[in-house]
Amino acid sequence: MLRDEQIRLLKGLIHYQESGTNVDAGGIIQNPSSTYTCEERFEKEWNTFFKNYPQIVGMTGDLPEPGTFFTREDFGMPLLATRDEKGNFRAFANVCAHRGVIVENEAKGKKVKFSCPFHGWTYNNSGKLIGIPKPDHFGEIDKSCYGLTELPCLEKYGFLWVHPSPKGDIDLDALFDKRLNDDLEAWGFQNLVLTHEEEYITEMNWKLAIDTFGETYHFSVLHKDSLFNDFHGNVQMFDTFKRNARLTLCTRNIDVMKLEPEEDWHICKGAFPVYYFFPNIILNVSGEGIILVREYPLDNSPHRSVSKVSFYFWPHVIENLKELGIDPSNIEENDTAQANDIHPYSGFGEIIRDEDYVVAAASHKGLRAGTLDFTTFGKNEPALHHYHNTYREALDLDPLPLIKI
Ligand code: FES
Ligand SMILES: [Fe+2]
Repeated sequence: MLRDEQIRLLKGLIHYQESGTNVDAGGIIQNPSSTYTCEERFEKEWNTFFKNYPQIVGMTGDLPEPGTFFTREDFGMPLLATRDEKGNFRAFANVCAHRGVIVENEAKGKKVKFSCPFHGWTYNNSGKLIGIPKPDHFGEIDKSCYGLTELPCLEKYGFLWVHPSPKGDIDLDALFDKRLNDDLEAWGFQNLVLTHEEEYITEMNWKLAIDTFGETYHFSVLHKDSLFNDFHGNVQMFDTFKRNARLTLCTRNIDVMKLEPEEDWHICKGAFPVYYFFPNIILNVSGEGIILVREYPLDNSPHRSVSKVSFYFWPHVIENLKELGIDPSNIEENDTAQANDIHPYSGFGEIIRDEDYVVAAASHKGLRAGTLDFTTFGKNEPALHHYHNTYREALDLDPLPLIKI
């Protein structure tokens, strides 16, 4: 994050915290419950936001060197992502040109050849068909016409985007604005090292998972014995970048940091930035690394979703952990004081799974009961105003009016 922006955000948080105020959306909005429960709506959002929208599928650290790969099946198009021998990020439909079988079934690894489990057609990590058992049965086959179908992809600022449609377009200028580009460029996310991944399946609409990240009003209640120990609740800064947004949460350490000279301030000393990348990505940033959360509907249902949570650390943090004899890929189990010094949010995955998603699933159940026509977003929850009105704009729905209070 750019230095001026860090200072602006930290000063804003200090002001809110000291004055007992918070960012103010100017009113409340009422969000129809059908947003989360309607099957017809679900169909529309699946086609618009998943099958036909550029997807952030991971970070540069997911493909750390040539020959690495990963697969995904989250948005209707089976994906095989590779880093080819030139170091380029490539994306393919993970679909065999022979009879359509999923070619690679491992979630990730290092492999330069991918052999289909059915008849053994083999592809390299540039998607080229390089081997057919008993080729004489296929006559004069032109192998160049039988490669894996390539998908549009882009690697920028440490993010990996894929468009699920071979004819799709990833236009970063349309998705982001200059402020966001500058902000992301300054972080250096391409240096992050992936340590571990988790996934949580929950009986709730995928957007309820997203909503739990959109405010800190709940910290003093739901997280009173966990995050509230480290964060001031109901204090945040909020910024929008086209369809995307950034909430900046206020850590209790800001009380110490603000006594230091301003040149020693750092955004991660007193704050915890949370980026919303429309439509389904939440990126949580700390001085130790990032936690990338990808939210997807599951089983073609508005009532089920999966959260894919990936943990990445800055390289110097990995070194510090190793020096302490702590396996970075086991950080969640290494809940020691030393590990917590280095990575104070090591229990983050458990907190969202056991606290946030539990209430979000309860909310889904409550909304399906059909007694509430709408849910309400307070004036202190501008990220939810912005997200849901952006979502509606993208689906050609009327915006939810602000009810001034
Ligand atoms: S379906 Fe892949 S080799 Fe036959
Ligand atoms: Fe929460």
